[in-house]
Amino acid sequence: MKNIWKSLKKPIFILAPMDDVTDTVFRQIIGDLAAPDLYFTEFTSVDGLVSELGREAVSRRLQFTEKERPIIAQIWGNDPEKFKKSAQICAEMGFDGIDINMGCPEKSVVKRGMCSGLIHNPALAGLIIKATKEGAGDLPVSVKTRLGMREIQPDWIKFLLEQDLPALIIHGRTVREMSKVPAHWDEIKKVVDLKNEISPQTIIIGNGDVQSYQDGINKVKETGVDGIMIGTGVFKNLWIFDKTGKSHNPSTEDRLQQLLKHTKLFVETWGDIKSFAILKKFFKCYISDFEGASELRAKFMETKNLQQVETLVASQKFDL
Ligand SMILES: Cc1cc2nc3c(=O)[nH]c(=O)nc-3n(C[C@H](O)[C@H](O)[C@H](O)COP(=O)(O)O)c2cc1C
Repeated sequence: MKNIWKSLKKPIFILAPMDDVTDTVFRQIIGDLAAPDLYFTEFTSVDGLVSELGREAVSRRLQFTEKERPIIAQIWGNDPEKFKKSAQICAEMGFDGIDINMGCPEKSVVKRGMCSGLIHNPALAGLIIKATKEGAGDLPVSVKTRLGMREIQPDWIKFLLEQDLPALIIHGRTVREMSKVPAHWDEIKKVVDLKNEISPQTIIIGNGDVQSYQDGINKVKETGVDGIMIGTGVFKNLWIFDKTGKSHNPSTEDRLQQLLKHTKLFVETWGDIKSFAILKKFFKCYISDFEGASELRAKFMETKNLQQVETLVASQKFDL
């Protein structure tokens, strides 16, 4: 088995999958600033992937460049056969691994027994893992999940640890908690204890509220996890994966040049496929935490295309 999880140096720092955020463009931008050890795609529907009609649209979610390696495709659904076919597709596309989403708390998918809905149905979760492994060939198949549905469910974690997974990613909240309470890192530590008992070879990745590289290192020391996955923390610190822990405080001019670079790559990659509004959510990452930032950001939020962003950047005066 080509097990990417084993070849990465610990602690492994991972950019979390985030729908409509961590596409190929954002991953390239982060990779150029301070690269994580491993990337995930946005979650991608197996229903879409295996259907003639849906494949083109959803496969954009799986688009990646060689710069974004190693990279894992994350898939979701509720039909084992479709997981098998999707895993075959992902293997053919050259991914380094496949991850099954068993953590998304979105009501519409949970109701249909998908994503975190599988926490209620370990029998189906087991069939999905088995089918995905069959389709994945020699690629490793991991699972990303939460601590439980309405409450913390050690039995769910125990069940997953019995599935011979190379890696298990734990978002330290229950489904019911959504993102409303601080992540329970004390419970993530208990997952590590359980894995030492049941499945010492499984790599445990902790996730939830990590705000800096050093914060991640502290959590590794406190809990014994093998790695850290960071999602929203990257918005406030685009250099969060910088292992030197150095604090980055770019000038306003550098921030705007970076924003322009991001805009150019977005337009070059997606053209009319993705709306410009999707890009604008990233403007806050560049234009904040300095005097006059919110006024300047408001101006950028009014732009509608690359030319307008270019003009606005060019019109700014900077003190030398
Ligand atoms: C906008 C957004 C989109 C997300 N999309 C996904 C997804 O596609 N797959 C997934 O497993 N988790 C998804 N998540 C959850 C994150 O991967 C992560 O588990 C969560 O944000 C907690 O980590 P953090 O505190 O570091 O952000 C998403 C979170 C956000 C904020």
